[in-house]
Amino acid sequence: MLKGSFELIGDKSISHRAIMFSSISKGYNKISNFLMGQDCLSTISCFRKMGIDIDIKGKDVFVKGNGLRGLKKPNEILDVGNSGTTIRLIMGILAGNEFESTLIGDESISKRPMKRVTDPLRTMGCKIEGKEDANYTPIKIYGGNLRGIDYKMPVASAQVKSAIILASLYANENSIIYEKSKSRNHTEIMLKSFGADINVNDLKININPVDELYNQDVYVPGDISSASFIIVGTLITKGSEVLIKNVGLNKTRTGILDVVEAMNGNIEIINQRIVGGEIVGDLLVRYSPNLIATTINKDIIPRLIDEIPIIALLATQAEGTTIIKDAKELKVKESNRIKTVVDNLKLMGADIEELEDGMIIKGKNKLKGGKIKTFKDHRIAMTFSIANLISDGDIKLDNEECINVSFPGYLELISNLLK
Ligand code: S3P
Repeated sequence: MLKGSFELIGDKSISHRAIMFSSISKGYNKISNFLMGQDCLSTISCFRKMGIDIDIKGKDVFVKGNGLRGLKKPNEILDVGNSGTTIRLIMGILAGNEFESTLIGDESISKRPMKRVTDPLRTMGCKIEGKEDANYTPIKIYGGNLRGIDYKMPVASAQVKSAIILASLYANENSIIYEKSKSRNHTEIMLKSFGADINVNDLKININPVDELYNQDVYVPGDISSASFIIVGTLITKGSEVLIKNVGLNKTRTGILDVVEAMNGNIEIINQRIVGGEIVGDLLVRYSPNLIATTINKDIIPRLIDEIPIIALLATQAEGTTIIKDAKELKVKESNRIKTVVDNLKLMGADIEELEDGMIIKGKNKLKGGKIKTFKDHRIAMTFSIANLISDGDIKLDNEECINVSFPGYLELISNLLK
């Protein structure tokens, strides 16, 4: 069983944004509780290559911003590693800066679609080249001279939205973005605190260009996406009770809590507070023997997109048929997460069926051990490390190192909580 309490590691989405916005602000910025995961370190490395001084001291990062137009042309290719957030958001910033730059990433990044970003940036007047009409890396950006945009987003994606918002800071007129459904809004919240002129009205976002962003200190709350593995591990492992401290509870991220409630899971939110414009609280999670199935679709999907692999595992331990639909986006994450989840859970003996845009899971099932193909996807590796807590026979992951992308120290934390 899992027992104990711990302070949650910093949020990945917020850590990326804190480095990026600090780098293009004017002055000194301190970022506390920064996530030292591989993805966020890739963001730091890209901005260092554009002349930004960034010092890491423990869990704090000090960034000397050089102003909105103060980035230097990089002498080297910018390598984003495994990070979709780095490449998509940075493209918005590079589009506004008057120099040429080239972006590459790892094998997973080279398969992920970028046209969702290059299309609107081209509409704003940016010249972009890349494989298959700039849908895939390497991508070359010739920045500067942007127009405003009036854009209806064809996908619900915070990465795409953020790229367009960032490019809009540099445009010669205002921009309007209409979201398809509400995705995480950390960019809007944090950029406003840096002095950007952004107005949000439900799905409509209005951005007026500004001359400069001001320096800010940013506190990074804990990452609910990282917490979700421990949450589910606690819910499904007999006798467990874990207190997760300092969890970011921004409404655009808490879809998993709604799902757990609908499934009869036992989670209590305590000590709720607001830190740096973001809601934070502690979660007291308890083993829940009477889980029931649910349906997950439509507008809740962007609020739990990264949690679907671990929710699928949860559904194998719930009575009834859980249906997950409208989640086609899963196919273009770090791996094809519909396939990687379905294939691996099937191998463990789950009753699960793959859909074009999701999956159907019939519970409750005893799971057996086996060899898991992670496709070097951090969230797949963590999902099946949790499955190991309840399986008959051991689960072997073909790669554990990928967990460092978002949750360094994860395996050690699990072994500390295991009683
Ligand atoms: C992220 C947005 C999500 C999410 C990713 C991080 C972000 O991607 O899957 O892990 O930080 O903006 P999409 O917005 O493309 O769905």
